[in-house]
Amino acid sequence: MIMEENEISAYQKAGEIAVEVKRFVRSFVKPGVKLLEIAEQIEKKIRELGGEPAFPVNLSLNEIAAHYTPDPEDETIAEGILKIDIGISVEGFIADTAISIDLTPDGEFKDLIEANKGVLASATEIVRPGMKVMDVGKAVQKSLKKFNEDNETEFSVIRSLSGHSLAEDTIHAGLTISNYPNENDAELNDMAFAIEPFLTSGDGDIYEGKVGEIYGLVSDAQVRDGDAREILKFIKENYKTRPFCRRWLVDEGFSKVNFALSVLVKQGILHNYPVLVEKSKAPVSQAENTFLIYGDKVEVTTE
Ligand code: CO
Repeated sequence: MIMEENEISAYQKAGEIAVEVKRFVRSFVKPGVKLLEIAEQIEKKIRELGGEPAFPVNLSLNEIAAHYTPDPEDETIAEGILKIDIGISVEGFIADTAISIDLTPDGEFKDLIEANKGVLASATEIVRPGMKVMDVGKAVQKSLKKFNEDNETEFSVIRSLSGHSLAEDTIHAGLTISNYPNENDAELNDMAFAIEPFLTSGDGDIYEGKVGEIYGLVSDAQVRDGDAREILKFIKENYKTRPFCRRWLVDEGFSKVNFALSVLVKQGILHNYPVLVEKSKAPVSQAENTFLIYGDKVEVTTE
């Protein structure tokens, strides 16, 4: 299916906002800043630039790989290695991008972050219309092997975290783009997708930690409780099928947010995403960009 002109330009606009936001992030994220402040500043910037957050900013520290966003009273301070995963929606079309920042005084994570940028760059080089999904995994593995040999490091890819196709109001649109050798011969044509290798100095396995602050609509069932019904209506109208967080609902002035969310989760209407943690508790890095293939053209929208 060929992409519509307006769809292409919305993906491009979302990508331009992502580039601006990343520049802004690098200017103000410093050790000791609260994650809550970082999240609020980033989401405010996205809106100022004419986008909507496609999902709550993920601010995952150290061994936490993904799916952490601050709670409304979060006191956590930025330290160690911070993954900032940002989603921007323009008319439902999404730019998904992530960077890792080393906040240690002695640059403890410099190599890990450099290796991660390198593997994403190697994958980027091979992206072309009609390419096979499995070629991404090959490029990542080859680049990582070389980095490890050249630098005497032993970084590994986190196998259970993958890139993905994107669609209107949908972060994971069905296609999984793995970062390890695989046999997926699906072709990438006329679509938007994210490539996102995660690296670690640990084993590279992930477990689901405690449930976090990120929620998503998964079913269209009715709910009887009045407060829950009111919040559900707001979620459907404003976030649709895009993930959201408790923080946003509190900021909108809703009362009984905790109660309403627990009712909606219990009834299977909302999914509450667990935080993802590296099993050996080793630090994790992430690098991600969004790609657009249309006709014979390839664009990295977020760089
Ligand atoms: Co992504």
